[in-house]
Amino acid sequence: MEVIINPTPEAASQLAARKIAALVRANPGSVLGLATGGSPVAVYRELIRMHQQEGLDFSRVTTFNLDEYLGLGPAHPASYFNFMWTNLFQHINVRPERVHLPDGLAENVPASCLAYENAIREAGGIDLQLLGIGSDGHIAFNEPASSLSSRTRIKTLTERTRSDNASFFGEGEEVPHHVITMGVGTIMEAREVVLLGFGKGKADAMAAAIEGPVTQMVPASALQFHERACFLLDEASSSKLQRGEYYRHVFANKPAWQRV
Ligand code: GLP
Repeated sequence: MEVIINPTPEAASQLAARKIAALVRANPGSVLGLATGGSPVAVYRELIRMHQQEGLDFSRVTTFNLDEYLGLGPAHPASYFNFMWTNLFQHINVRPERVHLPDGLAENVPASCLAYENAIREAGGIDLQLLGIGSDGHIAFNEPASSLSSRTRIKTLTERTRSDNASFFGEGEEVPHHVITMGVGTIMEAREVVLLGFGKGKADAMAAAIEGPVTQMVPASALQFHERACFLLDEASSSKLQRGEYYRHVFANKPAWQRV
């Protein structure tokens, strides 16, 4: 597990964007796992800049998003479908038929979840999965007490997550109770994982995920078992880590060939 404490969220986002760009340049047919929420927005902004100014080509890239609200269609302003098109897809040359999100309007939810898992498998699996982290340690919408082997399925949100995400909804509008989310087991199969978490509201979750015991009570802690997981923090989100100095020392002394 790599833990990188960045001076600012912007610096962390640049690093994440450079990792994604390096992957896409090396393998133009990469399969990217993408996330929503506030944390990845600056990463997407930088990828858009790289596309527009440096010709970063997404025409052969396939994407799979982590999750979607049940009951929200693509046209709903708070749907993750809309979030992704607004914040990334409409600004780059990704092919719409290569973009995948769970279907928030699925009539047969279990069948739709199974189809999503199959589509990931048929695409050859996810090369790099971008993740945020909930203030309670959730990844995607895998709330505490999610099975660490779980697959794409329906989940019920906690009130804390509903209130954390309320700012993405209009005033007086209900945050849905149900979602479709990739499971922890699905995420663990990505070949590389990059998790972003910034601000002091994420400090407890980051400390628990990185240095606490592996437990379903902190779904992000499962990443301790991932072969290639990178946690990108800022000063504030790293404030509760016990070994912060060591992580800084490791990063400052990285061999040149390991730098992105
Ligand atoms: C939601 C999303 C997660 C995201 C989390 C944190 O719960 N489903 O994928 O990581 O919010 O979001 P933010 O980055 O806005 O703090």
